[in-house]
Amino acid sequence: MVDEWSDEAFARRWDAAALEENPVRAEQLDILLSVLVEEYRSGEVILDLGAGSGIVEEMIFGQIPKARVIGVDSSAAMIRLAHDRLRGYENRYRIIRHDLEELATLDLPEDEYGIVISVQALHHLSDDRKKRLFVFVRETLRENGLFLLLDRLAENTPALYSCYRSLWRRQERVYRIRISAARETYEEHAEKLSAKQDHPASLKQHLVWLREAGFDAACLHLHGNRALFAARKA
Ligand SMILES: C[S@@+](CC[C@H](N)C(=O)[O-])C[C@H]1O[C@@H](n2cnc3c(N)ncnc32)[C@H](O)[C@@H]1O
Repeated sequence: MVDEWSDEAFARRWDAAALEENPVRAEQLDILLSVLVEEYRSGEVILDLGAGSGIVEEMIFGQIPKARVIGVDSSAAMIRLAHDRLRGYENRYRIIRHDLEELATLDLPEDEYGIVISVQALHHLSDDRKKRLFVFVRETLRENGLFLLLDRLAENTPALYSCYRSLWRRQERVYRIRISAARETYEEHAEKLSAKQDHPASLKQHLVWLREAGFDAACLHLHGNRALFAARKA
């Protein structure tokens, strides 16, 4: 079933269970934040693409007291949750409701964007849209600006799917959680992704597209099918 971001109940469920099925999220967010804290320059604005319910913004404001964020998200339900979560920080952020597939009409405030982030959002876009978005991010960033991208990757190697399953079963043991993909065949998993209309790309595709868009790019952290990329405007 497609992720129903516009549905209030779906949005609330996702928000309440953001770490479920993805035990690596906490560590990768912590790494992203560690880089962000050291890279952020006072007075600049952080752009968050697919900002969702404001979980990442709350972490940013907790660690960088003067940071300002512009978030973009297409879901009114997620944006409502973000406003609830970020009460008290109203003068530090703004969330623009917009579809990232429609970049030509995305009207960002004139600001100096030193850092762009995106967390678990871009796999919702087609490969072509992801490539266009990388170019948009490069054009939006100031010289030498940084793009931190955290997202899921495609497990597009059927011959290795059993290894991913082993990794997820290990995560189930270590983190005492349940990961549905740990009991699926490759075909069942591929069918589920297709029904959700998710389009995760491979590690290599991300790096190639980021470099084609004009970034120096590296993968900072990889655990199974979850990766954190850092890309510097070249
Ligand atoms: C898994 S949530 C992640 C939210 C947030 N980045 C976080 O990690 O806590 C994915 C978010 O991407 C947003 N999203 C999905 N497709 C989108 C699109 N085409 N344009 C804008 N936002 C989109 C959804 O509304 C949702 O808020």
